[in-house]
Amino acid sequence: MLGRVNHIAIAVPDLVSATTTYRDTLGARVSQAQRLPEHGVTVVFVELANTKVELLEPLGEDSPIAAFLAKNPSGGMHHICYEVDDILAARDRLKASGARVLGDGEPKTGAHGKPVLFLHPKDFNGTLVELEQV
Ligand code: CO
Repeated sequence: MLGRVNHIAIAVPDLVSATTTYRDTLGARVSQAQRLPEHGVTVVFVELANTKVELLEPLGEDSPIAAFLAKNPSGGMHHICYEVDDILAARDRLKASGARVLGDGEPKTGAHGKPVLFLHPKDFNGTLVELEQV
């Protein structure tokens, strides 16, 4: 069911500082910051040969990563995103096996304009999992 890792998302309290770390300390190629108000984040993409890392900073009052940063003030890995061919088939298979799909269970348009779903971290070893149909 799972395809490639599409991205790994890291919540950060200070996007400028995190971007500097990836660009200058780690020598990675980084994008300009992009504000995504509908997702409550500002994001910088770290482009790697085989995948990307997304540095997420809260944007706006009810950012979905605000609570995570309150618990992890220096930042941390927020979620991992796997690609799937058919997100509805993946969802139905997961639900049939007892995994919890967050929200109303219907795919939303994610930060890359593709359908996404999030799966409950308690069902996946403490890691929030995003599925993206590609
Ligand atoms: Co994501």
